[in-house]
Amino acid sequence: MLLNLEPLYSSIVENIKERISKLSRPPKLAAVTCQPDPSTISYLKSQEKQAKRLGIEFAVYEAPKTSDLKLLLPKLSADDTVNGIFLTHPLPADISELEAVSLISPEKDVEGRNPISLGNILYDNPIFPPCTAEAVLRIIKYLTNPSGKRITVIGRSVTVGKPLAMLLLQKGVDATVTVCHSRTKELAELTKSSEIVVVAIGKAKALSKEYFNPGTLVIDVGINVEGDEIYGDVDPSVAEVCDLTPVPGGVGRITTLVLMEHTVKAAEMARKY
Ligand SMILES: NC(=O)c1ccc[n+]([C@@H]2O[C@H](COP(=O)([O-])OP(=O)(O)OC[C@H]3O[C@@H](n4cnc5c(N)ncnc54)[C@H](OP(=O)(O)O)[C@@H]3O)[C@@H](O)[C@H]2O)c1
Repeated sequence: MLLNLEPLYSSIVENIKERISKLSRPPKLAAVTCQPDPSTISYLKSQEKQAKRLGIEFAVYEAPKTSDLKLLLPKLSADDTVNGIFLTHPLPADISELEAVSLISPEKDVEGRNPISLGNILYDNPIFPPCTAEAVLRIIKYLTNPSGKRITVIGRSVTVGKPLAMLLLQKGVDATVTVCHSRTKELAELTKSSEIVVVAIGKAKALSKEYFNPGTLVIDVGINVEGDEIYGDVDPSVAEVCDLTPVPGGVGRITTLVLMEHTVKAAEMARKY
């Protein structure tokens, strides 16, 4: 069955709006772009639309070169009118992801990419976990109780697979987690012995029905653009035997909301000082 995440989506929207109504001024999200390609520009437009719909101020800052980035990120980090900083890809070739995200203050790291944000997850203190990893956790918790469940995460990226595995292992979440990657042998044996499988590999329709037992909950994180179409990492026919999140309209849609929610949280935290 293709799952309907609309009630989860609506409840997060309502929660965000209510929290914004209690702030003295709208939260502000600063998007920083370096050398935006057409997909970055279209992504930014959709984020801006979502922010405005919720009552979040959204501003785009350009930093074409690494030297610009090294000035802008600390400046925005120190700017009291900015609550969240969101850094788009691609970055200039002469700066690493780690170096760039380390320039963002952890209090404003609403994407959860700074090493401090990632380290906090290991201490069961996820202040700003990566938005997609948190979106997957929220979806799983909305659909079932993960405690004691066997969950396989396919993919070990810094933004999805690895932090998600840590979130699922947290005390209070208590899943039993297996993490797979491109060198994993006998992948189907692992997916078939799991009650929940999260697929984040970045290959359109890569996993078919043969990988899953009937009734498995399958969370498809993939966003693969082919022409005018968007495909997940899981073949849609899997929905004939399993509970499958839709693409588009699944993890990606909740991820955008988590980014906005983090911006509201950053504004609430800033108010305390
Ligand atoms: N919905 C959202 O909001 C959202 C957000 C971020 C990403 N995404 C999508 O999620 C997907 C994954 O993104 P990502 O950033 O995590 O990708 P990534 O950095 O390219 O990582 C892909 C991971 O999948 C593993 N992998 C690749 N092929 C595999 C295979 N055949 N079997 C098992 N593992 C395999 C890779 O293993 P190795 O480490 O061994 O190479 C790697 O760990 C993409 O489609 C991306 O567009 C969606």
